[in-house]
Amino acid sequence: MPNTAKAMVVYLSTSGNTKAISDAIAHGISERNVEATSISFYDAKIEDLKAADAIAVGSSTFHYKILPPMEKFIDETLANSDVKGKLAAAFGSYGWSGEAPVLIAEKLRNLGMNVIDPVLRIQYKPIDRDIKEAERLGMDIAEKLKNA
Ligand SMILES: Cc1cc2nc3c(=O)[nH]c(=O)nc-3n(C[C@H](O)[C@H](O)[C@H](O)COP(=O)(O)O)c2cc1C
Repeated sequence: MPNTAKAMVVYLSTSGNTKAISDAIAHGISERNVEATSISFYDAKIEDLKAADAIAVGSSTFHYKILPPMEKFIDETLANSDVKGKLAAAFGSYGWSGEAPVLIAEKLRNLGMNVIDPVLRIQYKPIDRDIKEAERLGMDIAEKLKNA
């Protein structure tokens, strides 16, 4: 049977660090033959979110929190996208404290999503090893979707 699962990786990134993690997660997912898009929260459409079987959400940490526009995206857009019961993951780049991915995971769990543990946190700009780790998370998402 052909594999028709779809995944979306949605990020907010101020200087490209969380975007690089998002791109690597999506790359890992497609490596395992599951369709994946890495997209800014700003461009994520509700009908695509509704159609996705798995959604990974990332934000960098600013002032010990999720960046406010991402918080709004989760509380308003994602909360109205029929995400209950779907597979999810949380990630983000950080500098010194890294709360955002943990807070994102908590919000996704409150929406009824099955969040992969642990969250993925990368300090500042991802290096090769970090990109590989993000790709591995993507492969894990794809395998979980295929086995669902
Ligand atoms: C104004 C400002 C506030 C920040 N606050 C935090 C913070 O509270 N905790 C933390 O871990 N990193 C903090 N950082 C570091 C960023 O999370 C880090 O630079 C990250 O790599 C940015 O990723 P991005 O390019 O995806 O936005 C802060 C950075 C700036 C510029």
